[in-house]
Amino acid sequence: MLIKSLSVLALAAVAVAAFSFERSRAASAPKPDVARGEYLVKFGSCNDCHTPWAMGPNGPEPDFSRMLSGHPSDVAAPPAPKLPEGWMAAASNTMTAWSGPWGVSFTANLTPDKETGLGAWTAEDFIATIRSGRHLGRGRPILPPMPVQFVATLTDEDLRNVFAYLQSIPAVSNKVPEPLPPAAAR
Ligand code: HEC
Repeated sequence: MLIKSLSVLALAAVAVAAFSFERSRAASAPKPDVARGEYLVKFGSCNDCHTPWAMGPNGPEPDFSRMLSGHPSDVAAPPAPKLPEGWMAAASNTMTAWSGPWGVSFTANLTPDKETGLGAWTAEDFIATIRSGRHLGRGRPILPPMPVQFVATLTDEDLRNVFAYLQSIPAVSNKVPEPLPPAAAR
């Protein structure tokens, strides 16, 4: 009995020590570098898929008035095309809906809107999503063409920088639809 309560005490002490270590680590973590986050987002082509495209004077281009707000909810995605043999995927004219063997995926709203974007996420949620390839680190697997393995090559520090930049951009309220399973995509 004494041994048992002693070991419970020891465990509790370890837990408290680990907790304060975590806390001091978080407190001493460098402040995220928003400018570096912006640099990485631009290099990482996030706008190519997460910013809706529109026809501009020089042809199709990302519409930065809706920067990184994902597939526009006011655009009804037409039925996905049935591709001829030898073709893998097709994209909508906004470049935000993608049809392939996985069904139809719609690019996520990465702006800090609380209801429809990443506004309620923490940096840890973002890191867990990218590291696991699953929504919030525990939900369904993230579908193509999201280059999640490529983004996961960044260090935790740079993922924090990316997230800090994403939290600093204008929030856009835009509820992106759930993906369609392959059968519905036909
Ligand atoms: C080639 C297109 C493409 C590129 C480039 C791309 N994404 Fe994505 N991304 C997607 C698609 C499509 C989804 C939705 C997948 C799904 O619904 O499963 C997505 C989903 C996500 C999610 C998951 C959101 C959630 O709610 O789980 C995050 C986070 C994300 N992208 C961040 C980024 C970042 C940061 C970059 C740039 C470094 C980036 N993406 C570049 C296509 C892309």
